[in-house]
Amino acid sequence: MDITDSPDLPPRVLRSLFLHAPIRRRPRVVLQRLLELVDADTPPDGPDGPVAVLERRIAGLLGKEVALFFPTGTMAQQVALRVHAERSGRRAFAAHPYNHLDQWEKQGYNAVHGLRYHRTPDPHALMTAADLAAIGEPLAAVLWELPQRDLGGLLPEWDDLVEQVAVARSGGAAAHLDGARLWEAQTYYRRPFEEIAGVFDTVYVSLYKSLQGTRGAILAGDAITVAAAGVWRTRLGGAIPDAWPLALTALAGLDTIPPRMPAFRDHALAIAAAINADGLARTCPEPPQTPLFHVHLPAPKQAVERAGAAMLAEQGVQVFPRVRSLPDPRQCAFEISVGENAMEFTPDEVAGLIRELLARAA
Ligand SMILES: Cc1ncc(COP(=O)(O)O)c(C=O)c1O
Repeated sequence: MDITDSPDLPPRVLRSLFLHAPIRRRPRVVLQRLLELVDADTPPDGPDGPVAVLERRIAGLLGKEVALFFPTGTMAQQVALRVHAERSGRRAFAAHPYNHLDQWEKQGYNAVHGLRYHRTPDPHALMTAADLAAIGEPLAAVLWELPQRDLGGLLPEWDDLVEQVAVARSGGAAAHLDGARLWEAQTYYRRPFEEIAGVFDTVYVSLYKSLQGTRGAILAGDAITVAAAGVWRTRLGGAIPDAWPLALTALAGLDTIPPRMPAFRDHALAIAAAINADGLARTCPEPPQTPLFHVHLPAPKQAVERAGAAMLAEQGVQVFPRVRSLPDPRQCAFEISVGENAMEFTPDEVAGLIRELLARAA
């Protein structure tokens, strides 16, 4: 029996392994949560408003002088790189080929900000200090994404990271962190957020991914850099006055999610162990370093997409929203990022779902 009410409606997601599944994002659910977060005296803006409180809290957590709210990480990071470029008088930055700016932002860094991008050579491995040393052109900044989402949430070992940043700095580049998922990265490094953020000049964190806010981003750094970023935020139309609903949901996430991250990571490890023990699919990395990892499947992408869509339509269970192709067309992969949604599945259940997926895709 198909659980879809009408053939015109998309299948309703009842349970999902996907972090951003719509289950917790329906407007009514969000509005109900928001009401619990305010009282009659909560100001909409000003120094005691939710946005300013959030900025101060994240600046403190990351050990930075100041932090600034942005409507999106896309805007925050392009602005951060632009400010580093203007201060250094250089136009180029370097990053791993899978960085969000080049992959998903239609090269806004160039189209909007006139910056040039150097990709490090190996898309299938993390970047190295040698990669950075070999670039040659003086850089305004180097961008690190921790963890590297498209490599299954891989992280460089701490000493490697520190060495890479030292190489960048020795050439006069600023160090910028794409910390969209810094909360996940921290579970591997097991160092205070302040120590991890302290390696970098500027840090962006997302408010709506693992923190489960509605949308938004924070850019943190020294007061001069962040003030210059604020000018660009205004120029780009990002200084929105009524951002308090976004800040409120992010504050709630900040209170509740980071303390649960170690449990998310433990559950990710248990799920991955069950998948690998089954032997049909393999996780990458094996074992995962963070709550985020990839599952590599011995089946073609389109067949897996069809199988996943059928399971969603029949059972309301979403295994993935998107399947990734791999160089071998007989294989494909998808991401699991353990948060509240995936915590509702036992490791054996997930292994069973993958068995079913592969049986249907055969
Ligand atoms: C690693 C990473 N950086 C930056 C962004 C951009 O964030 P936003 O969606 O807030 O523009 C994303 C969004 O998915 C991301 O995954």
